Amino acid sequence: MRIAILPGDGIGTEIVGEAVRVLDAVARVHGLKLETETALVGGAAVDAHGHPLPESTLSLARAADAILFGAVGDWKYDKLERALRPEQAILGLRKHLQLFANFRPALCYEQLTQASSLKPELVAGLDILIIRELTGDIYFGQPRGRRTATDGHFPGAEEAFDTMRYSRPEIERIAHVAFQAAQRRNRKVTSVDKANVLETFQLWKDVVTEVHAQYPDVELEHMYVDNAAMQLVRAPKKFDVVVTGNMFGDILSDEAAMLTGSIGMLPSASLDAKNKGLYEPSHGSAPDIAGKGVANPLATILSAAMMLRFSLDQPAAADHIESAVRAVLSAGLRTPDIWSEGQGAVRKVGTREMGDAVAAAITTTRKTTKS
Ligand code: IPM
Ligand code: MG
Repeated sequence: MRIAILPGDGIGTEIVGEAVRVLDAVARVHGLKLETETALVGGAAVDAHGHPLPESTLSLARAADAILFGAVGDWKYDKLERALRPEQAILGLRKHLQLFANFRPALCYEQLTQASSLKPELVAGLDILIIRELTGDIYFGQPRGRRTATDGHFPGAEEAFDTMRYSRPEIERIAHVAFQAAQRRNRKVTSVDKANVLETFQLWKDVVTEVHAQYPDVELEHMYVDNAAMQLVRAPKKFDVVVTGNMFGDILSDEAAMLTGSIGMLPSASLDAKNKGLYEPSHGSAPDIAGKGVANPLATILSAAMMLRFSLDQPAAADHIESAVRAVLSAGLRTPDIWSEGQGAVRKVGTREMGDAVAAAITTTRKTTKS
């Protein structure tokens, strides 16, 4: 099993380092042969090669069975032309590798209900799955650019424009992914759109409704995105699978992340049609805390678990990582982002110590089950 490791920028190197150590631990226990190769991506690649996604990094990612990705971006690149900004690395990987299906599960661990910004009873037991279409929408729509306005409120002024677009097959394939995911869960899909205003999302709604006919065992509801943003903080447990476009999914998944206590807890998988995937925490490179050793590595560690499950067909190893994370939370270890007094919190730890603890828990839980 060949894994491309792309740590990227900011806290990326720190959190990916811990995930790799956890993968090593689980590979030892389960007798897996994981070959890893690391490459530069994002700002780090801009500094070294003058491009955020060098050809060498892209071909490593193409050749791998799965990709473990950290995060990209730093304010210092804000002045570069868009094509050279670090964010283009992750967008380029998604597009080149056709990673159209983005899974962002938001799970509230019982040990962390106090860390959520919502009342504990609203989030206790929360388990929702956001499925975000990842290679279409206004993120990739053409044309885009700047020009001089010829009409509108300010003719003659400089204006910028991006194009929101979705094709029928793009919507069909993500709808199938969502309905099939719901069949493995609680059989409910909420399709989030803005069909009351946008033609793109009227097509979205129509196509999702059509595809639904093939899944009579799954309940489908449609919801406007503004309402969905509200319902997510009002009664998040009413959702099961949420499927939406690239832009709305970006926003709603950050919102859902906070329900779980911290965006530092939210893993993600971005899959192509054959379940090859890129796995990354849902959060960014957090330049403000980079290099301080305080970032929460759990989202990345949990992303590595998703990688074992979805792309490498190792569900037992994936379960093992997830139960090790639970064990460490139960033991009271907390990085600063999930620290709150009470509720079993015992010690504030840094990135390294959290990674060490999960790796150690993998070894000890195995010993317990054997004896
Ligand atoms: C995410 C991020 C990216 C996105 C950025 C870094 C381009 O916010 O994965 O959610 O907008 O998709
Ligand atoms: Mg985002």
